[in-house]
Amino acid sequence: MRIGFYQFAPRFGQPEHNLETLLDGVSGAQADLIVAPELALSGYLFTRREEVEQMAEEIPGPSTDRLTLAAAGSNCHLAVGMAERSGSSLFNSAVLVGPKGVVGVYRKVHLFHEEKLYFSPGDRGFPLFEIDGVKVGLLVCFDHFFPEAARTLALQGAQIICHPSNLVLPEYGQLTTRVRSIENRVFWILANRYGTERRGGKSLTYSGCSQITAENGEVLARAAETGDSLTVIKVDPERARNKKVTDRNDLFADRRVQLYRWE
Ligand code: ACM
Repeated sequence: MRIGFYQFAPRFGQPEHNLETLLDGVSGAQADLIVAPELALSGYLFTRREEVEQMAEEIPGPSTDRLTLAAAGSNCHLAVGMAERSGSSLFNSAVLVGPKGVVGVYRKVHLFHEEKLYFSPGDRGFPLFEIDGVKVGLLVCFDHFFPEAARTLALQGAQIICHPSNLVLPEYGQLTTRVRSIENRVFWILANRYGTERRGGKSLTYSGCSQITAENGEVLARAAETGDSLTVIKVDPERARNKKVTDRNDLFADRRVQLYRWE
């Protein structure tokens, strides 16, 4: 299976431009699955909820229709972060689109900092989707801080975790996602953005370094801190079905759930 990421720097408040950039960036990629950053269509640094309302879309909607056309044209799946409107609620979502349309949506469960002013936390847990028989889960950025999120996907059988991100704390995400790969034996596609957004006296710099990790923790690909990067590699997702660390250790069978605390 050919998997990858498209790292770029969305421009705040220019969804049309960002969608075009993304579609241009992934065209001709020869991939089965490509992941793009969090809030890749709107940008990230909102100053008012009305700005999110203006740019959020229903899913399916016009942008996912355009993504579907692109996915059909290149026979590929795209996982893209976008602001979702559902009734009067706004979610920081990741959508998985394939050649036949929207395959599924994940609504970010763990909202970061000022996202709590603008978005509702995800209300549907951690759903699992399938691409040609390969089980795929979605997480969004700050979710990487919560090992329970990746574990919940892995326990359902996820082989690949797609992780649209706008990371602002340098190196944390690249480190934790590598650990999450090891502790769950899953492949991980971290698609981060780069660049600086400045709005309303605020400023955020995103850390780039998008990364693909194998189920054994090997870093298979990594982008630079800045700059657009379409990166696609070949992996065997079957490897993520094997949870054995040694002949006597199976990551899931060895858990001692009766001794763990969840709260
Ligand atoms: C983040 O969750 N965008 C840091």
